Amino acid sequence: MSHKVLILNGPNLNLLGKREPEIYGFQTLQDVEDLCVKNAKGLNLTIDFRQSNSEGTLVDWIQEARESFDGIIINPAAYSHTSVAILDALQAANKPVIEVHLSNIHKREEFRHSSFVSKTATGVICGLGVDGYDLAMQAISRILSSR
Ligand code: DQA
Repeated sequence: MSHKVLILNGPNLNLLGKREPEIYGFQTLQDVEDLCVKNAKGLNLTIDFRQSNSEGTLVDWIQEARESFDGIIINPAAYSHTSVAILDALQAANKPVIEVHLSNIHKREEFRHSSFVSKTATGVICGLGVDGYDLAMQAISRILSSR
């Protein structure tokens, strides 16, 4: 049986490909989703890939994962640095969580150096661009199948 993984993307990631391409690259969020869908099967994962600009919607989806998913991959975008609500929801979900950032947040402005989500994430991948999503799927697949 495959493991169900919810892949969440936070605010402004809908603009991927157009937004600051020197930082985030030229691939769109649809390209990222296509890559994830393509690679999920070989990793024995069934994925649901979503994006929202709204903190409350992300919290609702994480609450849904408590019941309906085995693990969560999340690029919380700017909410990484601000959202105790997302941290609390992830803690309540009590599932493996891989946090992904396209850019290396530690090389950037100081306000990006800390992430509330990292306080509960099983692992964090940053600075590897779109490949970070693929690596996160590999990691969560190994974690879930070793249980
Ligand atoms: C980001 C990094 C965040 O600091 C920023 O607010 C984003 C994207 C990344 O993927 O590199 O929107 O999460």
